[in-house]
Amino acid sequence: MTSSLAAPKLKVMISREEIAARVAELGRQISKDFAGESVVLVGVLKGACLFLSDLARSIELDATFDFISVSSYGAEKQSSGEVKLSKDVDSAINGKNVIIVEDILDTGLTLTYLRKVLMAAQPKALKIAALLDKPSRRQQPIQPDYFGFKIPDEFVVGYGMDFAERYRNLPDICILEEAHTV
Ligand code: IMP
Ligand code: MG
Repeated sequence: MTSSLAAPKLKVMISREEIAARVAELGRQISKDFAGESVVLVGVLKGACLFLSDLARSIELDATFDFISVSSYGAEKQSSGEVKLSKDVDSAINGKNVIIVEDILDTGLTLTYLRKVLMAAQPKALKIAALLDKPSRRQQPIQPDYFGFKIPDEFVVGYGMDFAERYRNLPDICILEEAHTV
């Protein structure tokens, strides 16, 4: 039966409990690494919102939030390879400890671009925290300083991540086995 309302094929890859435990570990690590200092958490909209909100609550430091936005995959699963800044940070980051908070490091094009843009503003330190790392698809030599999970080359949704803007609110990280175009 084919129907545009067919249930999506979602398979849990990383459960909410596993996410919570790992994000808490990352928060502890960041708290240790920056002990006694302040940090600016720069979330990459929109996918990193849930990760940032959980990570921030595991970080026991003086912290502020900022957000940045780049052109995304849109309704496609393949990156266009082009990255554009559509929203810059609101506050100056020069001399600050900045942690870019991103949902997933895939080809590396987005974070390579963002690292360049943010480095130009001369932060004291610039680190990358990516919840997921898909190293097999990397096109740029970039590694996260903090990562939650390394995953194989599967398209995932949930916990902030989307396909055509949907599924961001799923509490678990799921493999989307079938593309739904409606
Ligand atoms: P990159 O520039 O290829 O590293 O892409 C990073 C961006 O692509 C992420 O911020 C996500 O928005 C998106 N992306 C990459 N893989 C996935 C996926 O499996 N599910 C959802 N979004 C993804
Ligand atoms: Mg994203």
